[in-house]
Amino acid sequence: MAHRIGIIGGDGIGPEVVAEAMKVLDAAGVEYTPVAFDLGGARYLRDGEVLPDADLEAIRGCDAVMLGAVGTPDVPPGVIERGLLLRLRFELDLYANVRPFVAGSSALNDGVDMIVVRENTEGTYAGEGGFLRKGTPREVATQGSVNTRFGVERCVRHAFELAQARERNHVTLVHKTNVLTFAGDLWERTFGIVATEFPRTGTAYHHVDAACIYLVQDPGRYDVIVTDNLFGDILTDLGGAISGGIGRAASANLNPDRSGPSLFEPVHGSAPDIAGTGKADPRAAITSAVMMLDFLGETEAAQRVRDAVANSEDMTGTTSELGDAIAERVQA
Ligand code: NAI
Ligand code: MG
Repeated sequence: MAHRIGIIGGDGIGPEVVAEAMKVLDAAGVEYTPVAFDLGGARYLRDGEVLPDADLEAIRGCDAVMLGAVGTPDVPPGVIERGLLLRLRFELDLYANVRPFVAGSSALNDGVDMIVVRENTEGTYAGEGGFLRKGTPREVATQGSVNTRFGVERCVRHAFELAQARERNHVTLVHKTNVLTFAGDLWERTFGIVATEFPRTGTAYHHVDAACIYLVQDPGRYDVIVTDNLFGDILTDLGGAISGGIGRAASANLNPDRSGPSLFEPVHGSAPDIAGTGKADPRAAITSAVMMLDFLGETEAAQRVRDAVANSEDMTGTTSELGDAIAERVQA
């Protein structure tokens, strides 16, 4: 049956890279009904809407969502990120943000082969906090971190399940337990408890600052990393940079319980600096589409696209030339 795929191109390079991802899905012969959503900074500037309820309901009716990137320099920070991206993650309960990294030809270190599982619905991104006496010399701003046993446990369990299906079968918890002693304590204890369900899976713990060193100098030590929302955001830009560029880094925002659609998007943002120039690498978006195919059970098509992307390692060209070349290989 044709999958109902919601498409949020978004802003900047978002629509450019998503168009290439859909081109490749067409080449792979995937049957789907596209449902386009006009959401992002441009929509907000036009009519003040960020995520109307009707759009959210229509998104709930999809089997999966492909998102390019959202955010424009002329929209105040946070409006789109909180009102659209984070709201979708929270409302659709996309609690596991899964980001794989494999060394490409321009990798800083060819030992990279890992998946980062980032908790996606809590932490500092949950929005706890506020201002007091804003705009005065004595103003106060607080930004809390929300960590629930339920939220941490389901994320950690997803990481262990992913590791179990991998050859190395190893999970590293990354946090900052020595300073964030409340949240860190909850994460560490929960990790230890979940680990007992997976006796064959190896485990380690690293502080996030040390993990930044290891990711650059010795990334081969990582198989699956599980971490909180903020650390995961930062570590996965680093993951992109060490493994061959942010234009390659894919991600899946999963609701593993499948009570609604999951959302697939490249790690990168809308890159206003290169929008419209044809310089955007579409491979992060195409690989995100591969993750979507896997999640939808289109294993054979996923494998063909994955192989085509792997064989595109030394290809150069504009955004659409790269998309064309990969689509051609998928068809071949
Ligand atoms: P960015 O990821 O858009 O760009 C960072 C750097 O990477 C830029 O130099 C850009 O040219 C380059 N880059 C990004 N994607 C690339 C690609 N596919 N190929 C080649 N080069 C690429 O991050 P930035 O500049 O911090 O944010 C720009 C806007 O995107 C902001 O409004 C931000 O809020 C938003 N954003 C949205 C995200 C999303 O929709 N999930 C995620 C991150 C940022
Ligand atoms: Mg980020």
